Amino acid sequence: MLDLIIRNATLPDGRQGVDIGIEEGRIAVLKPKLEAQAGREIHADGYLVTPPLVDSHFHMDATLSLGRPRHNESGTLLEGIQIWAEQQPMLTAEDIKTRAATQCRWAIARGCLAVRSHVDIADPALTAVEALLELRDEMRPWLDLQLVAFPQNGYFRDQGAVENMKRALDLGVEVVGGIPHFERTMAEGAASVKALCEIAAARGLLVDMHCDESDDPLSRHIESLTFEAQRLGLQGRVTGSHLTSMHAMDNYYVSKLLPLMREAGVAAVANPLINITLQGRYDSYPKRRGMTRVKELLKTGINVGLGHDCVMDPWYSLGSHDMLEVAHMALHVGHMTGRAEIREIFSCITARGARLMHLPDYGLAPGCHGDLVVFQARDCIEAIRLRATRLYVVRRGKVIATSPPQVAQLDLGGARRDVDFLA
Ligand code: FE2
Repeated sequence: MLDLIIRNATLPDGRQGVDIGIEEGRIAVLKPKLEAQAGREIHADGYLVTPPLVDSHFHMDATLSLGRPRHNESGTLLEGIQIWAEQQPMLTAEDIKTRAATQCRWAIARGCLAVRSHVDIADPALTAVEALLELRDEMRPWLDLQLVAFPQNGYFRDQGAVENMKRALDLGVEVVGGIPHFERTMAEGAASVKALCEIAAARGLLVDMHCDESDDPLSRHIESLTFEAQRLGLQGRVTGSHLTSMHAMDNYYVSKLLPLMREAGVAAVANPLINITLQGRYDSYPKRRGMTRVKELLKTGINVGLGHDCVMDPWYSLGSHDMLEVAHMALHVGHMTGRAEIREIFSCITARGARLMHLPDYGLAPGCHGDLVVFQARDCIEAIRLRATRLYVVRRGKVIATSPPQVAQLDLGGARRDVDFLA
């Protein structure tokens, strides 16, 4: 007797009519016409069933703080950083935890059960670090919250960040962050990348840096990050987030850079909603769109994840933690509208993100965690097109969120009709 069976699922790889049996929190069997019984059965009716969505880049400490103490009128990254600094003295652990917990619930309802969140370590009291570590442990039954120690005001530029980084990692933050483009000079930025990668290597931790988040075509911190990943044997353990300068870089230079990233096993994270909002703010027309070269990175064989980055904070006033919205924006900005390309973008918010975060036992195969999402859509492309309703969200074999199917009732002069937007 299984705990849960999902009947008649369509999988992301196109397989149809698959039944998925879950026992003791793990997928026990996947096959058509499974002859077994379970405590609960869900009929997917041919709808898409995938492993949970993954958000590879977020900021839980700043989320849902929009307007505190003021709004970002210029729309720039730098004004956002300034507003965040003004807000910081007012933050309490309870406030951070309450806002972040709300955000986690939004993510879960949207079928996103893994979030890599950066947490600012500039505050000497490490209030946000302690609040989010607590939340990480409390949310574990439902959501994997992975924390990155992030020196928002610079690792060398901000007095105290070197010590705070060490303390945050000692407290149990599992990924080393950085922000080399915010250090005082290019040389200081490169030195910060070196120092932070050495810390990660010594402690056996992953690395994920905000890297080259500017429109400066000559910003080269991704080159330093790639070099350090190779030098320190951190292949597969290092991520460059944002990488927006790559949008503006010279094509010849990029043709050298991407193979180096692949050799060093460095992954990339694009944050399309934020990149298209914050970048290009100093341009007249034509305005650069800022998102890194997702299509070219993928073609080179580099792993790419996507992040929501912000929801209602000093940098971005919109959002509801929907990774399908992120994917939708990514494929538009990245000119990835081919059918195979759209499927590839879907993998960036699922399997690719999971690989980048080193999530164990992720996927739809026997032995994997019994975690999945049933969408009101027939395939990945339709899921992104409709930002489809997440009918069921399952964690370790238990339904933890449901949403009613989206159906509009039309009354066009007598003939009533239902419209569900499925083609
Ligand atoms: Fe970020």
